[in-house]
Amino acid sequence: MTDSPLATATAQILRAEQQPGQKPVIKTFFDEATFTASHVVHDPQTKTAAIIDSVLDYEASSGRTSHATAEQIVAYVKAEGLSVAWQLETHAHADHLSAAPWLQEQVGGKLGIGAAITHVQKVFGKIFNAGTQFARDGSQFDHLFHDGETFKIGALEAIALHVPGHTPADMAFIIGDAAFIGDTLFMPDYGTARADFPGGDARMLYRSIHRLLKLPCATRLFLCHDYKAPGRDTFAWETTVGAERAHNIHVHEGVTEDSFVQMRTTRDATLSLPTLIMPSVQINIRGGHMPEPEDNGVSYIKIPINTL
Ligand SMILES: [Fe+2]
Repeated sequence: MTDSPLATATAQILRAEQQPGQKPVIKTFFDEATFTASHVVHDPQTKTAAIIDSVLDYEASSGRTSHATAEQIVAYVKAEGLSVAWQLETHAHADHLSAAPWLQEQVGGKLGIGAAITHVQKVFGKIFNAGTQFARDGSQFDHLFHDGETFKIGALEAIALHVPGHTPADMAFIIGDAAFIGDTLFMPDYGTARADFPGGDARMLYRSIHRLLKLPCATRLFLCHDYKAPGRDTFAWETTVGAERAHNIHVHEGVTEDSFVQMRTTRDATLSLPTLIMPSVQINIRGGHMPEPEDNGVSYIKIPINTL
């Protein structure tokens, strides 16, 4: 069966590799507190930009948020004279809070995420007993992307691919010749993302990864996280399809689906949950907005005891 979204993405990447004007300019901001790479992507011709996977600083001990990390992005956007069309989330992150609503106030842009966020909202809405005022229809976002949906960032061609597994709603956004793949693959020496959060699925992750690995060899891949592999002392967030195919320690060429699922499941069973999973999930499934304030005007994060 032909995968027509993948064929469209491949054709876009090959066109972009031939035409210098179709290559996006990419600036990455790495947050060492959460090991997150946020990317600002722009079209050099029109200066139209997208901000991908931004970070809101959050101090767990006090429950306080701040904007030092996101302010760096605002400063860059202003210095470069960019006009922000999109705030994109590759998925509802479990390890950091999104700064998208705050960034929208500063520099604008429509907030987009994968359409399967409604599934994530249903799963976590139930876990956190979020109540009927929490809509599970994705209405907290400005746009829900479907698999194969094409869009533009200025003159740059872009396409969204649904790559579930880490969560049910993960998307890869391919802009010109660069693919922003969220938490599917990590650097070749570090491997892949966990697949054990509620709604995650290692087999689905393997299939999504293999879909991405069918893109042209030279496709630039931009990751959402890096944790420095053993023996590497600098953070890295850019690689290529060819490097992942040849060297990814979990899914290089020749690793079968069953052996990947076995490895991933065994490894995931040893991992503790991310420190910020409780606030991150409750805020990010609301498009980065805090839960509805209680009658004293304060928003609260819930912690379900003996549940996750
Ligand atoms: Fe993630």
